Amino acid sequence: MDLQQLRQAVEISPDNAPLLVLLGNACIEAWNLEEAQNIFQRAITLDSSITDAHIGLAAVFLRKGMLDDAFKVFGTIDTSGSLSGRGHLVYAQILVKLGRTDDAEKHYDEALRMDSQTKDEEIERALSKTGRHKSADTDAPLKNYSMTHETNDTDINHLLSSIEEKSRAENTITFKDVGGMTEIKEQIRMKILYPIQNQSLFEAYGKKAGGGVLLYGPPGCGKTLISRAVAGEIKASFFNIGIHEILDMYIGNSEKNLHELFENARSKVPSVLFVDEVDALASDRNYLKMSAGRTLINQFLSELDGVTTDNSNLLVMAATNAPWHVDPAFKRPGRFDRVIFVPPPDLEARKAILEIHLKNKPSEKLDISLIAQKTDGFSGADIRALIDTASEIVLEKAMKKGTVIPLTNADIVSAMKKTKQSIKAWFESAKNYALFANQGGFYDDLLPYVGIKK
Ligand SMILES: Nc1ncnc2c1ncn2[C@@H]1O[C@H](COP(=O)(O)OP(=O)(O)OP(=O)(O)O)[C@@H](O)[C@H]1O
Ligand SMILES: [Mg+2]
Repeated sequence: MDLQQLRQAVEISPDNAPLLVLLGNACIEAWNLEEAQNIFQRAITLDSSITDAHIGLAAVFLRKGMLDDAFKVFGTIDTSGSLSGRGHLVYAQILVKLGRTDDAEKHYDEALRMDSQTKDEEIERALSKTGRHKSADTDAPLKNYSMTHETNDTDINHLLSSIEEKSRAENTITFKDVGGMTEIKEQIRMKILYPIQNQSLFEAYGKKAGGGVLLYGPPGCGKTLISRAVAGEIKASFFNIGIHEILDMYIGNSEKNLHELFENARSKVPSVLFVDEVDALASDRNYLKMSAGRTLINQFLSELDGVTTDNSNLLVMAATNAPWHVDPAFKRPGRFDRVIFVPPPDLEARKAILEIHLKNKPSEKLDISLIAQKTDGFSGADIRALIDTASEIVLEKAMKKGTVIPLTNADIVSAMKKTKQSIKAWFESAKNYALFANQGGFYDDLLPYVGIKK
């Protein structure tokens, strides 16, 4: 259940303490610490014997940096017998911060013994620094993320050149390879391309080109595609950094890598830096435990702010299909203050996308208008999959006959039965956020698509 569903469930049964604990934990995940604290306190008032509510509260205090309060919580519960794996983990996290490494190690070992999901890089780093703790599974794939590893310059240079290579390869796609999106292309021209092309004009009015644009929308609707097309449209350096590339480097050094990436882009202005799947920064918990993620986020924000360096003529574009996981701090003025919703393709856009993906395929005169009408609710990726499936059907026939057979309307219609629409579910969860979390009008452009009136 996601956060919104849990909130609704709690509205229906406000006195259900175990449910409150679930909601509290979801709030911690979303880093809604105030709400989490209130929820756990309410759960404890209702039933003080629920240990997980106390643990949750301690976890909140820990994240808020209120170490003493976090520690005191464990004075009120039995820490010897009844703690869960997660309880031992939270306790260990607090003890580490308090410098009580011996006790921390004891509880951390207990946490791992009870629940292997409680592995925590930060604790391991703290413990191995003092020479005590040897990671139990040094041969596991996770060892690459060990905090103790130092990234050397070869690693970062390798990363930079691979990013440049990849970005150069992308120069071949331009706006004409992206169907529809007329308005978005125009917005991107105004916000990204013209400012970079007309620097001196900007300067005449005392303005600097630069800043951040965040694209969001349902999966498969062309966010990544259009961003890559920007690279082909401008005569500026373009850097495509997959956030996973940064995370895949040794985690303890991700902040440094991030800085190098920005510095590299700054040294080649005018330039555009594209961060795909930026939500991973804030939500990829497989790689990042909360606190480590936090430092990375903070580093990213200060790079955006250009605190110590000059960001003029550096444009940062980011894309996500989970805007609700993007830390709110990203959306403040001067950061990603320009937000563009990339909607599913409308009728005209679907025609254009069909033309693009049917180009160079043997086909008889197809009724593009009809197919476009029938694909209402399809994403660009769905349309591409549809054409792929239809092509496979025809290819099979063609191979049997040993001759080229053109694609027909009927082939495409029958392929439709095999193509799943992928964006409905996205809109279902997006609707909740648009209803309940539309601070600052962030989701305003989305409202008409989910049937909400402003
Ligand atoms: N407007 C479009 N014109 C042509 N092809 C499109 C369009 N939109 C999507 N496609 C096709 O769908 C594929 C996937 O699109 P893309 O990767 O840009 O989606 P996305 O919005 O970034 O999705 P996600 O949120 O999952 O990352 C593209 O590579 C392209 O083949
Ligand atoms: Mg994408």
